[in-house]
Amino acid sequence: MDQPSINLAILGLQWGDEGKGKVVDLLSPRFRQVVRFQGGNNAGHTVVVGGQSIALHQVPSGALHPDCFLVVGNGVVLNLEVLQQELDRLKARGFDLAGRLLLSEKAHLILPHHIALDLWREVRADKLGTKIGTTGRGIGPAYEMKASRMGVRLGDLRHPGSLADRIRQGYEEVRLRLGEAEGLPSLQAIVDGALRTAQPFLPFIGDAQTHLQTAWQRGESILFEGAQATLLDIDHGTYPFVTSSNCSLGGLFTGTGLPPKALDKVLGIAKAYTTRVGAGPFPAELLDATGARLREAGREFGTTTGRPRRCGWFDAPITAHACRTNGVDGLAIMKLDVLDGLEEVGMVVGYRTGEGGLTTQLPSCAADWAGLKPEIRRFKGWDSTRGFTDPRDLPGTARAYLEALAEAVGVPIAYLSTGPDRTEGCVYPGTFLASLLG
Ligand code: GDP
Ligand code: IMO
Ligand code: MG
Repeated sequence: MDQPSINLAILGLQWGDEGKGKVVDLLSPRFRQVVRFQGGNNAGHTVVVGGQSIALHQVPSGALHPDCFLVVGNGVVLNLEVLQQELDRLKARGFDLAGRLLLSEKAHLILPHHIALDLWREVRADKLGTKIGTTGRGIGPAYEMKASRMGVRLGDLRHPGSLADRIRQGYEEVRLRLGEAEGLPSLQAIVDGALRTAQPFLPFIGDAQTHLQTAWQRGESILFEGAQATLLDIDHGTYPFVTSSNCSLGGLFTGTGLPPKALDKVLGIAKAYTTRVGAGPFPAELLDATGARLREAGREFGTTTGRPRRCGWFDAPITAHACRTNGVDGLAIMKLDVLDGLEEVGMVVGYRTGEGGLTTQLPSCAADWAGLKPEIRRFKGWDSTRGFTDPRDLPGTARAYLEALAEAVGVPIAYLSTGPDRTEGCVYPGTFLASLLG
């Protein structure tokens, strides 16, 4: 590797599914370590190679590159049964992770009663009209158990004799809430299941913080793969319609145990339009035929749950907020090709308040979003950008749209994606990404 060694974070700037997996896969050959630091199997990161699509949920998206060492940091919550299925699927396709995967002993386990609580709560919330539309993977309860000090860490699996005691308190609290009717497995069944699924992973569990500190000191390049996105961040997103981790930059440091000075650059990932799965504010949402067209053209159905994603125009204020929150150095704008063939393309550039004023500030309270009306700037559409690899070849109208987008967000574009495959996209000359990719 002759290119400069940098440590780079890849972070979602909208409500998830921006195409982080594609970018991580694309950049991975330039990195030695690829690290997940938050979230769990609520994430679905798709990588497309030669027309074949591979969905990754807990394994970092550097998995397809045999020289990448893969680290799951302490900030992640892990479902080991799902991880086993993921490793089996990868192995069947020729990607063996033996000897190049490390799971932090401080990462927390997702257990069956966490999943049961997540699902039970969503059913109740639906009746009350407060449903979040979670992925139902037990993510919220696993993080709750961590915060209430009833969580079970991967390191606890090395102590089978006391595992039942670690799990009991959290289990009992869930059982009290759900009652007998919900058919929870017994505590013993959960303990036995955890020990059985953990067995093949024991050699992979270790001190990920020291591993990463050492890699950093040695000057090995590190790629940090965010899951979810800033608008789903538990603090900086559209609370309470968010996930349960810090998906923005702060989560990288708490989720790995590396200090801020270990990070050199941040690449923010955003679609050329906006999508969201689940409930919550979405001022740019298009509930008409154009929204349906974006969904079909972009194949906007969840990688993890298969749910149709809500679609709308690019929302500059939310993306600018995400860029400020994360100190983004460059944008990767994804799926421009999905807008191909539209006569007119819209962009939300602000919100009209009840009093008629225009603002680009995001409300902190979910209820305050209801009073905002999107202010839409319209652009002339273009014919085709699919597969383009040089930004200079883009139709003039597409270039004008992208220039306005970068200006509205206040960050330059470093990469433009024009199709799902690794080969479909342009690196912008003169950006840090161009020097990284040589
Ligand atoms: P992630 O969660 O951020 O990794 O994104 P997902 O994988 O959930 O969703 C992004 C989807 O868009 C995946 O199916 C990708 O294969 C696909 N994709 C990525 N970039 C492009 C692009 O430029 N054009 C098109 N048409 N699809 C893309
Ligand atoms: P990637 O990494 C899109 C959403 C859910 C729900 C909310 C809370 O693929 O971008 P949770 O199960 O986390 O408690 O659900 O967060 N959500 C995602 N939306 N992409 C994701 O991940 C998501 N992970 C969670 O739909 O609205
Ligand atoms: Mg996804």
